[in-house]
Amino acid sequence: MTTQMLVHDLKSPIAALDTLIFALADRLHDDEVNLANLAISRIKDKFKLLKQKSSEQKEYSNLIELIKRVINEKRIFYIGKNVEINFKQSETLFTKVLIEPIKFKRIISDIIENAKEAMPDGGHIVIHLSRTADNIIIKVRDNGVGMSPQILKLVQEKGGTYLKENGSGKGLQHAKECLRMWGGSLEIDSILGIGSIITLNIPISNKPSLGQV
Ligand SMILES: Nc1ncnc2c1ncn2[C@@H]1O[C@H](COP(=O)(O)OP(=O)(O)O)[C@@H](O)[C@H]1O
Ligand SMILES: [Mg+2]
Repeated sequence: MTTQMLVHDLKSPIAALDTLIFALADRLHDDEVNLANLAISRIKDKFKLLKQKSSEQKEYSNLIELIKRVINEKRIFYIGKNVEINFKQSETLFTKVLIEPIKFKRIISDIIENAKEAMPDGGHIVIHLSRTADNIIIKVRDNGVGMSPQILKLVQEKGGTYLKENGSGKGLQHAKECLRMWGGSLEIDSILGIGSIITLNIPISNKPSLGQV
């Protein structure tokens, strides 16, 4: 079992214990509650360390290659749906950065899926790659329904699913968390009736040494 799987599997039992202690607090003596809280906080501390360790399984990954792979998959899925996906880059870029490639592909896939869901009659998705001195910038733009200022604020500040029947509301939150772990960030912009732009910033400060390329 990988550390990542272990972290994933421990998440819900730890949350369950936490809830249980909270629910039982009234029925237990104070020192019993304290003991239980102490025990759970020690487990949580170790869990945090484990989580940090699992997030260190990063690799120098070629972003262009990964994005193109996801786009090719999506184009096949969206055949007949009137959704066009284009990839553009400003210049020939050095795009090997230290990230978790499987998570990165999942993030791009989720963002494209959101864009597609925002265009029930079809439309155009453009993925644009550029860089600044310190960051690779990936913008995913669609001309879908967009978000009202109120919903945009909710999505930006606390996540959640809006105006969808079967949304989990976890896609963008998870993406944000991953980007933060990689030292980057994710921004959401949208105008109702015009479309949305999701921007990923990924630092390029950690270039691989020659042996790692
Ligand atoms: N490209 C987009 N266009 C319009 N709304 C979007 C777009 N991307 C995300 N949203 C809004 O943000 C919410 C959160 O997205 P996400 O975290 O992926 O959860 P989910 O897709 O499961 O609802 C969506 O429910 C939707 O209301
Ligand atoms: Mg989604």
